[in-house]
Amino acid sequence: MPLEEKPKDLLSIVTETIVGRTKEDYEKFGNIATGYIGKHIVGTGEDAHLTTKVFIDLLKPHVILVSGKRGSGKSYSAAVILEEFLLLPEEFRQKMAFVVFDPVGIYWSMKFPNEAQLQLLNSWQLEPKGFDNIKVYVPEKQLVEYEKAEIPVDGTISISLSDLTAEDLILAFNLERTNELAVTLEKNFNSLLESKKVFGLDDLIDSITSDTKAKKETKDALTSLLSVLSQWGIIKKEGTKVNELIKPGEVVVFDFSRLKSQEVRTLVAGLITREVLHQRILSRKEEEIAKITGEQLKIKFPITWLIFEEAHNFVPSDRDVSSSADIKRVAKEGREPGVGLIVITQMPSKIHQDILSQTDLVISFRLTSKDDLQALHSVMQTYVQEELEKYLNRLPRIPGSAILLDDNLEKIFTVNIRPRISHHAGGTARVV
Ligand SMILES: Nc1ncnc2c1ncn2[C@@H]1O[C@H](COP(=O)(O)OP(=O)(O)OP(=O)(O)O)[C@@H](O)[C@H]1O
Ligand SMILES: [Mg+2]
Repeated sequence: MPLEEKPKDLLSIVTETIVGRTKEDYEKFGNIATGYIGKHIVGTGEDAHLTTKVFIDLLKPHVILVSGKRGSGKSYSAAVILEEFLLLPEEFRQKMAFVVFDPVGIYWSMKFPNEAQLQLLNSWQLEPKGFDNIKVYVPEKQLVEYEKAEIPVDGTISISLSDLTAEDLILAFNLERTNELAVTLEKNFNSLLESKKVFGLDDLIDSITSDTKAKKETKDALTSLLSVLSQWGIIKKEGTKVNELIKPGEVVVFDFSRLKSQEVRTLVAGLITREVLHQRILSRKEEEIAKITGEQLKIKFPITWLIFEEAHNFVPSDRDVSSSADIKRVAKEGREPGVGLIVITQMPSKIHQDILSQTDLVISFRLTSKDDLQALHSVMQTYVQEELEKYLNRLPRIPGSAILLDDNLEKIFTVNIRPRISHHAGGTARVV
């Protein structure tokens, strides 16, 4: 049924809309811990105009898909959600953290105010603002490049080889599990792991080279793969402790834009994702105990939302990469320990079905491919696919107009995402 004929939708337009918040939670908590993300769009084409505000639920973690064509406003709207988190009252903000996996290299700009869209901000009664609580970490080896580009960096990130598993490396090298290379790698990796000593890539290469049971070609091939990995400089004997980087009330950006290897990016992202889920499972137990005993609890590890830019590379639909299993686990099991997920992509059909089926909120800008529409439809089947298509086609051609599918409320809204108050570094390149 078209929007105009739906009295239920009209009702939510005249009252407050909090997407992602169930009716029960709304009755219990009202409008606390919400973020202002935009306004409803009413009417189509020339007649389209903005009405009441739309908020997003930040009380508990969600699985959100942000999709749309190139330059449609995906990264921009993810940053709006981050701004809203950073603007939350202290009592909520101090219990949460956001982590951004940024292969594009644009989120650092949230440190600066949006002076470029002053007029637009004015028309929304908003003012430019930069944020201090955005911490940017980059791989050590590329630090100089970032400094030369005058990108403000807060620290470097590396990972410990012993925190990975043999399977992570096998997936990163795209080897079959039964392949001789994979078998030799796994055997040597696991024996180093069992030795309980801290080990690095050099130790693994040494172990493989002195493996008397392995063929020379196997050893040579593995040595070459591991040497390439070593050259990226991000896998060390002793890496950074993830739980020391992620702090309550802050956004941590892992900027991998100058780390050109997608395999290394997925290795790092997978490990961080796994660690976040692990830390939250531990913290959640303590929080439960404190609730029962009535003791005051100091937040150990905050409820964390993970944001993946170009998410189809981190959890693709057609193959497994080294971060796939960890991200799928967050989508399936993250609700209880408190780990949320925001996946951003131009092509939702290229995101693994396990993520789509757990998605409870979709922010989608214009999409035209049938496969991508089908992917959105698989998230929310309450609406027929043609209807979704109609909503998307009717979107006015103003920057930031999107449809919002809310599986909690089982509704579709047409919204205009509000302008950012912090600077957006992801604008379109122009010659003039
Ligand atoms: N809500 C909005 N209000 C005003 N301008 C917007 C809004 N959303 C996007 N824009 C404009 O559109 C441009 C492109 O947005 P953005 O960088 O988010 O695109 P994207 O969908 O992430 O593209 P890509 O797929 O190439 O990464 C921004 O630089 C900004 O000028
Ligand atoms: Mg983008």
